[in-house]
Formats: sequence, C-alpha cells, structure tokens
Amino acid sequence: MRKYKKQDIISIKDLNKKYIFEVFNIVSLIKQKTLKETPFKGFLFDKVVACIFYEPSTRTRLSFESAINRLGGRAITVENAKENSSSYKGESLKDTIKTISNYADCIILRHMDDNSAEIASKNSTVPIINAGSGKHEHPTQALLDAFTIYEKFNRLEDLNITIVGDLYRGRTVYSLVYLLAKFPKNVFNFVSTENSKINSDLRSFLIKNKIKYKETSNLKASLKNTNILYVTRIQRERCKDENEYLLAKKGMIIDGSCLKLLNKNAIIMHPLPRIDEISESVDNDPRAYYFKQVENGVYLRMALLIKIFDVVLNKK
Ligand code: CP
Repeated sequence: MRKYKKQDIISIKDLNKKYIFEVFNIVSLIKQKTLKETPFKGFLFDKVVACIFYEPSTRTRLSFESAINRLGGRAITVENAKENSSSYKGESLKDTIKTISNYADCIILRHMDDNSAEIASKNSTVPIINAGSGKHEHPTQALLDAFTIYEKFNRLEDLNITIVGDLYRGRTVYSLVYLLAKFPKNVFNFVSTENSKINSDLRSFLIKNKIKYKETSNLKASLKNTNILYVTRIQRERCKDENEYLLAKKGMIIDGSCLKLLNKNAIIMHPLPRIDEISESVDNDPRAYYFKQVENGVYLRMALLIKIFDVVLNKK
C-alpha cells in the first residue's frame, strides 16, 4: 500500500490562518459549480478512506462519506464501532488504528475519549481526521462554521459571538472559539447555566491572550450586539444524571421572543442535532443559518480531503 506523509487534522489549534484560507479557497472553487460538476471529480479515484465512528453521527459521517464519493474515492466505514468492531471484544484504540492504517489511505475518527485523536495520530501511518473527540474538539465542524461565518460577513475578525448552551461538554464550542481566537478584535459572550460553563483551560487561554469575553446566564441581555448567535445542544450523554441535564437546559431556549432582540444582520448557528434549544418556528427566519452550515459541511469536507492529499502529492 502506498504511504503518504501524514497530514493529520487533530486540533483546530494546529491549523494556521493560511491553511484555513487555503481550505476556504478550495471550498469556494467547489461551490462555483454544482456538486455533480465539481472540478475535483475523480481526485480521490485510487483512495480508500475509513470512517470509524464510536459515537453516533448523522452529519459528520455522512457528509464525509458523501465528500469521499463525490471525489471518486471509496469509503469503508464502521458505524457504532464500540459494538460493531473488535473494540467490543476489548481491542484498544491503538491496535484498531494500527490495523486500519493497513486498509485505508486516511482515517476519519469519532471517539468518546478526549485524547482519542492524539492516540490515533501516534499509531497511524496514514492521516487521521478528528471527527469529534469526547468533549474536547471537533475541528472540521469549526472549519465549516467559520466558512459559513466568512460567507456571511466576509471576515473572521471584529465579530461579537454569543455562544449558548453546553459550553462545558460541547466540543464544537472549544474548536470554534480556538479558531475565531486566531483573529483580532473578536468578542465572546458565553451564555450558560452554572453547571455548563466553559472549562478552565479555555478561560485561562482567553485571559492569557487578552481576548475579550464575558460569562453570563442571561441569554436575552446578550443578544443586542450579537453578530453570531451560536446555539448548542446540552450533551445529555455526557451528563452524569438526568438532574444535571435538566439544570443545564434551564432558560437556554431560542424562540420568537429572542428573535425580536437579535440584530437584523445577525445569524443564528447550531452545529446540530437540535433537540428543543431552537424552536422550529425560528427555522423560517432569514437569520437561521444552521441548514446552511449543513450544506457547507460537505463542501468543506471535500476541500479538506483535497488539501490533505494534494499537499502530500505536491511535496513528493
Ligand atoms: N454536528 C455534528 O457533529 O453532527 P453529527 O453528530 O450528526 O455528526
């Protein structure tokens, strides 16, 4: 099997602005055509990409598989790998990744452990893409979120970003904040209940880098100057019991009364899946951008795969 120089996507912290905009440029090129007419058709014609998901997914797994197929590659996949792979028999993640490295040219991994992507990276001879690692990171979601923001505002700086919901257990929050923190003059408002506040690592990072932020439980008071209202689901599966979940949910619902307070030019984002934190009545508001994020997901993941394999091929 042909081996490539590894181009892992483990943490958003590893990607610089140049890389991010190179990916965006590829997304824009793809978006100029219909998906059927992509200028990169056949780009992955001799590639096999493994999608190994230990946690449930609709968007990330299927948009990656769609991206692989649209680029002419082939996807091999394990859904519910906790039960449907030899993990069920007790095999370590390390051994599983060492094994799959022999079968695929790239591995896309979602796993419940915070350090899973790093473990995979150390034990793989092919690129690893982190498709969600515990409550730690979800870098490809952050990239598609940032692309959606860039499409709307034509900038990733000088934005007022209000992030609502599960700020402690939600990996999309961390990846997005670490991405937007690379750009100047962004201000973050973190809105959550007491048991769902951002973790101390992120707080220390913001303080150390003199990035403006505020933490509050008052959702409505935070909406007026907001450019981006980023709503997240309470991660029930990561709560220790039902009581913790119900406490985390309290007051974190976006409905018609919030829309009235929100700036006309703002956008409402959500990585999805949504449970009840955004009322369905919000979906028809022109500021609702969460299904635009979904659409950009497949373009962004196509671009990322192109970038990963292109860099490798060009450097050979
Ligand atoms: N946003 C996201 O990661 O969705 P899935 O869990 O459906 O992949």
